[in-house]
Amino acid sequence: MPKKNELPTLTELPAYQALENHFKLISQLKMRHLFATDEKRVEKFSIKNKSILLDYSKNRIVDETIPLLCNLAREVNLESWRDRMFAGDKINNTENRAVLHTALRNQTNEAVFVDGKDVMPEVNATLDKIEVFSEKVRGGIWKGFTDKAITDIVNIGIGGSDLGPKMVYHALKPYHHKELTVHFLSNVDGAQIDDILEDLDQETTLFIVASKTFTTQETITNAHIAREWFLQSGADDEQISKHFVAVSTNLEAAAEFGIDTDNVFEFWDWVGGRYSLWSAIGLSVVLAVGMENYKKLLGGAHAMDNHFKETPLEENMPVIMALLGVWYNNFFGAESHGILPYDDYLRDLPFYLQQADMESNGKSVDRNGKKVDYVTGPIIWGTSGINGQHAFYQAIHQGTQMIPSDFIASILTHNSHQDQHDIMMANALAQTEALMKGRTLDETYTDIVENINDIEDIEDRIHHMVFEGNNPTNTLLLTKLTPHSLGMLIALYEHKIFVQGIIWNLNSFDQWGVELGKKLAKKIHAEIGQAETVTGHDSSTNALINYYRSVVYKGAIDD
Ligand code: F6P
Repeated sequence: MPKKNELPTLTELPAYQALENHFKLISQLKMRHLFATDEKRVEKFSIKNKSILLDYSKNRIVDETIPLLCNLAREVNLESWRDRMFAGDKINNTENRAVLHTALRNQTNEAVFVDGKDVMPEVNATLDKIEVFSEKVRGGIWKGFTDKAITDIVNIGIGGSDLGPKMVYHALKPYHHKELTVHFLSNVDGAQIDDILEDLDQETTLFIVASKTFTTQETITNAHIAREWFLQSGADDEQISKHFVAVSTNLEAAAEFGIDTDNVFEFWDWVGGRYSLWSAIGLSVVLAVGMENYKKLLGGAHAMDNHFKETPLEENMPVIMALLGVWYNNFFGAESHGILPYDDYLRDLPFYLQQADMESNGKSVDRNGKKVDYVTGPIIWGTSGINGQHAFYQAIHQGTQMIPSDFIASILTHNSHQDQHDIMMANALAQTEALMKGRTLDETYTDIVENINDIEDIEDRIHHMVFEGNNPTNTLLLTKLTPHSLGMLIALYEHKIFVQGIIWNLNSFDQWGVELGKKLAKKIHAEIGQAETVTGHDSSTNALINYYRSVVYKGAIDD
């Protein structure tokens, strides 16, 4: 029981306790049996929203499960939190900020207020500025210092200033400008900048320094190296403005770096880094696909925003996906969640979602600063489907951990290899069937006897070939991967993450967990350059720093 005047925590809520009872009743049920006894299962457990179909029938749920989960969502006041987010309330309480990435794609242009000021005019002004600039670059009108058109763009950024635009850039390959290539430089490892610059020409390269804070060590270090490289061409400081632009909330720091203020594309502190691809951080995407397509991407996200705002919880795609995640994390004890796109253009989606989800909900203190006594965000992982089948699917099928997974595929392909596409789709569908159904001992005998000649020692081997099944999956089918459907898909996951954060009573919009490592890295970096032996850390860290220094600076190399 909660103490007097204390709000109940998640596990004390009546809806949560009802779910615990429900779990005891149904957790042993087999999905293959549920399918066999209910021919309406797919109809009941799927949602079509414009170009996205979500089939969530292959989950360990019965008719009562979703209503019980929705009761939990209502008990934590999900709808009110959702409305507060869209209205610009400062729901990011530890940073005292609004959370308004939805305003960036608000195509109705209805006013959205932060501190009494409508943000839509500045959102639209930045979009206009991006459009003018991108049209010049795309049309070859923007010239480099030797009067040549730009052919290569390097986006220098990390985290949200890299993963979002990179994922969208690769996803929208069929829409790319044919004479422009975008490269993404994020790692402070000098190998990456060398690899990228090796094939580029200073006269035709444009750098975008993308950093919300403009203080991120990796990005600023890379930007300085890029500037040195540019100046090696014989260009002078004056000509930097033709080759360097910036995207940031910190206009002063961008100007200090030497970027012409006319070439700085602004966004605002109410846009979280991992939600920033809809802001000027999307500049590299606009350069690649053009403003018209970028606006379709925003339009898709806006359509999903409306769905999330207006659809009853029981039919609401992000809500259902979020609640299923809670069902597995908090009741079945699942610890991770697989993202398995069967579309090569979506190959970066798992990496993008790792940050979106784990930086948002990888937290163990609730929004009131209290340690939680329940499990929160899962580990998000995955890779493009077919490759994953030949790598880690073994563990999903027969391992000891439950790994709920999302299978994401596009029905229509952009390429002309329909046969290949059919093979890939067949595999995606076969995997979800196999994960759900499994293969019983009897079925295994039948399969094996039919398919192998030597059945002498079958008794020893047969148990290795049995699949328990009952592994949950969602299937998301996009009619086609277009800017609009991609916008919908990304916003779907953003809202899913939001809903889970509300259920777990987290602030999904801060990221204090990345700070300590950054602070210690600065200290260690300074120590690496000192002459004295380092002694100020634990013995392992001291020894590792000193060993590193002995090899790099004192030449103590072993064979
Ligand atoms: O270190 C994590 C983080 O703060 C992310 O949240 C952010 O997306 C990334 O670093 C990059 O930050 P910035 O855009 O300010 O360079």
